This record gives sequence, structure tokens and C-alpha cells, in this order.
Amino acid sequence: MTREAPVIRPYVVDDRDAVIAMLSGRDPWQRLGYTVEHWQRLLAPPLSGREGWVIADGAPAAGIALVRPSFLLGDYLELFAIASGAQHRGLGRALLAAVERAAFARARNLFVCVSDFNHSARRFYARNGYQQVGTLSDLLVAGSAELLLRKTTGPARAT
Ligand SMILES: CC(C)(COP(=O)(O)OP(=O)(O)OC[C@H]1O[C@@H](n2cnc3c(N)ncnc32)[C@H](O)[C@@H]1OP(=O)(O)O)[C@@H](O)C(=O)NCCC(=O)NCCS
Repeated sequence: MTREAPVIRPYVVDDRDAVIAMLSGRDPWQRLGYTVEHWQRLLAPPLSGREGWVIADGAPAAGIALVRPSFLLGDYLELFAIASGAQHRGLGRALLAAVERAAFARARNLFVCVSDFNHSARRFYARNGYQQVGTLSDLLVAGSAELLLRKTTGPARAT
């Protein structure tokens, strides 16, 4: 079976149910205590200043990225996921590359947090050039840390 080439486009409210289905009951968020009500609030337009992107290779959306601009001389990637059935096909790398193009067009850094127990996502970000710059212990739940990762194109100012 041939697949359609993936399309990356802005998130729209019609994507919300597919994105909530992609996130609900799934780690790392289940382990961190996120609920469907949280996703419904977060994904209700106008996204409170965030930018949303989805990737789709058919309908419905197969991945989501939510970006919060203007964080530590860069952008903060607040939510990033590819649907369980669409992983390991390069969609994550493609969506992340699109987020990076937008972020690095306006600033020098892109930050993301990843849970210490989320080994597959840690490997994914490392392979895509992210380095750990901080450890936020017990940030969401006791006994687990959020690791702050950074990808940079260099210092913000020339000296
Ligand atoms: C982490 C995540 C976003 C990666 O998305 P993905 O679409 O699977 O990412 P890719 O397909 O680009 O890469 C994943 C792996 O598949 C491999 N891959 C990519 N295309 C492939 C292909 N055609 N055939 C085989 N393997 C492939 C990549 O080399 C990569 O390997 P690695 O994990 O050893 O680095 C996804 O697994 C996910 O949503 N996880 C759950 C939510 C999560 O943890 N989000 C991050 C929170 S901070």
C-alpha cells in the first residue's frame, strides 16, 4: 500500500478530537497525571499564545506540536507527540524539523522538557541534536525529573 506524503499544517480546532485521542491514556502523560479535561482546555483555540502544528499522512492528524514562543531567548516546545500507530516512520523527525525551521527563523534556541523515564523520547531528541541543560527534580510528580533539553544555533548576540 502506498502512503500519502506527510503534510505539516497549522493545528485547527477540527484536529482536537484526534489529538486528544492520541494523548489520552498514554505515557508519559498518564504517568504524570494529565487528564482528558487538561487536553480539552489546552487544545481549545486560540491556544493562549501558543503555535500549534499537526502532521498528517491521511486523515486524521498523526502528530501534534505546540510551541510557546519567547522563552529563554528561544521557543519552548510544550507538547510533542506522534500517534502510537504512526511512530517509527520519520513523522516525528519531520514535524520537529518544521518546528525548528520556525523557531530558528526568529531565535537561536529551542527548548523542550522530557521525563527522565521516557527513554525513547530522550533518544529521539538526542539523535536530533538536543542536549540536556538542566534537571528539574520532582517538577510534576515525586520521584521523577523533567530534563530540560536545548538545541541551539549559537549565542544570541555577537560580541
Ligand atoms: C518520541 C516520538 C515523538 C518520536 O516520534 P516518531 O515519529 O516515532 O519519530 P521518528 O520516526 O522520526 O524516529 C523514531 C525512531 O524511528 C526510527 N525510524 C524513522 N523512520 C524509520 C523507518 N522508516 N523505519 C524504521 N525506523 C525508522 C528513527 O531512526 C528513530 O530511531 P531512534 O528512536 O532510535 O532515534 C514518539 O515516539 C512519541 O510520540 N512518543 C510518545 C510521546 C512522547 O514521548 N513525546 C515526547 C514528550 S517530550
